[in-house]
Amino acid sequence: MNIYASAAVTADGYMDDASPERLIISTPEDFMEVQRLRAACDAILVGAETLRRDNPSLLVRDESLRARRRAEGRPEDIDKVTFTASGRLDPSMNFFTQGAGRKFVFSTRPLPQLAGVAEVVVPEEPLTAQLLVTELEKRGIERLLVEGGPRTLRLFARAGLIDTLRLAVNRSMRLGVEADAPRLCFDEGYLDVPHTDAMLDDRMEIRTWRFHPNTREEDLCLLRRAIELSLQSPPSPTSYRVGAVVRTARGELFTGYTHETSPTHHAEQEAVAKALAAGAELRGAAMYSSMEPCSRRSSEPESCSAMMLRLGFARAVFALYEPDRFVCCRGALNLREGGVDVRAYPSLGGEVLAVNAHLFH
Ligand SMILES: NC(=O)c1ccc[n+]([C@@H]2O[C@H](COP(=O)([O-])OP(=O)(O)OC[C@H]3O[C@@H](n4cnc5c(N)ncnc54)[C@H](OP(=O)(O)O)[C@@H]3O)[C@@H](O)[C@H]2O)c1
Repeated sequence: MNIYASAAVTADGYMDDASPERLIISTPEDFMEVQRLRAACDAILVGAETLRRDNPSLLVRDESLRARRRAEGRPEDIDKVTFTASGRLDPSMNFFTQGAGRKFVFSTRPLPQLAGVAEVVVPEEPLTAQLLVTELEKRGIERLLVEGGPRTLRLFARAGLIDTLRLAVNRSMRLGVEADAPRLCFDEGYLDVPHTDAMLDDRMEIRTWRFHPNTREEDLCLLRRAIELSLQSPPSPTSYRVGAVVRTARGELFTGYTHETSPTHHAEQEAVAKALAAGAELRGAAMYSSMEPCSRRSSEPESCSAMMLRLGFARAVFALYEPDRFVCCRGALNLREGGVDVRAYPSLGGEVLAVNAHLFH
């Protein structure tokens, strides 16, 4: 998933004041830019406190942007996501009543009041940013816009999951010391990387940090190669046909597919075995698999995700989350929790399902 974070702040870093009314920090030009950002994404995520305080609709309102999404074959409305521990969410909020996109609420408890207005997801594990991203990818979301508030932005920043951060700083607005007002603050050093500054209008300065380069084109190219490789794997009633490409930090490529040299080997193992036999360094390497690397094996002692963590892989890219057919897979989440940069491209998932049609008929 590609994650864009965006917020408007006053010159002294506040995202709102302490009054019950919503403080408008954005200018019309900035609002239009945010509309473009929303239109480029599949879903928008805000914390539950923002829903309670601001009651935002979180829509793409601009007609030309909606028309462009239509022309691209995408729904006019983006999906909306929030998360809560308290469950204090009311079905009459604009989040639920406005727009035709899907609405997801991740919660630590069941929320019967939202039946019929949102998909309420109650995971068995704590709600972390890694878990939210993993669950949203499983629901087909590839581009996510995180719009706040400050606690939500900090959660994603701490997990290292923000690819691009855009702050619109209103230089004409300063609150002074407002003890109870929500203020944007990240861990020390987080923003100490190069960023760009540009004036959008006479008041708004746009600061942009790119924490990870955009690798989408290369990712899709090597994923397609992995899917091609999966076609060489013999169909079996007890395993998926998967292809894998390892790319080392020096750019060497090694390939593999399920059962290539052994009836118990997964595609990732085959590619890694070739890389190790060639004496390649795998620390910092990327794994491109047609399907999510596994987290549990019955036929071998070590799962592919554990192997990748042990060898120091930096990236894991795949198309399809493993369906819950044989085991309940947690590979992507294990890798994210281990600090690996994980990217899923659900838009290629249909091709992987087609390669594995023998299991789904
Ligand atoms: N200027 C801007 O661009 C902008 C954008 C958005 C928001 N805002 C402002 O930001 C303020 C709200 O920000 P905020 O930081 O206080 O809150 P927030 O980030 O909007 O939401 C925080 C809430 O998310 C839920 N949450 C967070 N971590 C969780 C976890 N691990 N598990 C389960 N739930 C979790 C909790 O909801 P529960 O309390 O329900 O458990 C928590 O109270 C508002 O004043 C709003 O106006 C400004």
